[in-house]
Amino acid sequence: MRNQGLVVAIDGPSGAGKSTAGRALAERLGYTYIDTGAMYRALALKAMRSGVSLDSEEGLATLCRASSIELTDGGRKVILDGEDVTSAIRSPETSRASSLVSVHPGVRTEMVARQRELGREGKVVLDGRDIGTAVCPDAEVKFYLDATTPERARRRHDELRAAGAEVTLDAVEEDVRERDYTDTHRAESP
Ligand code: DC
Repeated sequence: MRNQGLVVAIDGPSGAGKSTAGRALAERLGYTYIDTGAMYRALALKAMRSGVSLDSEEGLATLCRASSIELTDGGRKVILDGEDVTSAIRSPETSRASSLVSVHPGVRTEMVARQRELGREGKVVLDGRDIGTAVCPDAEVKFYLDATTPERARRRHDELRAAGAEVTLDAVEEDVRERDYTDTHRAESP
């Protein structure tokens, strides 16, 4: 048993509702909610801004080690090196880049270590794709959430439109399919 409470792992592909369910559950339980995808997104944003190639495992791992990524306000805010990047990390460019960044084992090792540390004491809901398998295989509670590709695309499209983005449903669905392919065909934690 951990010091504070349970570890709840929510795995599944993007747009399946992990963060909606995870946030609501954490709120009900009085737990901390940790969106691990937001951490990969923050690193992707920083790489694009600083001109580090998304293909460079070494460059990205070094950038990651030099980055402070905090999830605050009950997991609602993402702070990168002191800057609030909550909205910036949701753009279609960052979505695509985060998938490419997360392919590299050197990046995953660093991220997984940070996420394990965040979950060490328990009393947390972690959401991601590798939480129940790689980050917290010993989580007391594990969920896997899934939905059809069109439904996941519809949810992402609604989110993007609500944030003011001008994107078509077809384009979002294409992005979702592309990202699914990258996420499920990578060498580590596919
Ligand atoms: O859940 P999301 O769409 O915010 O995640 C963004 C990207 O980060 C996703 O394409 C794959 C990667 N990711 C990952 O590899 N492992 C996680 N635990 C969470 C996200």
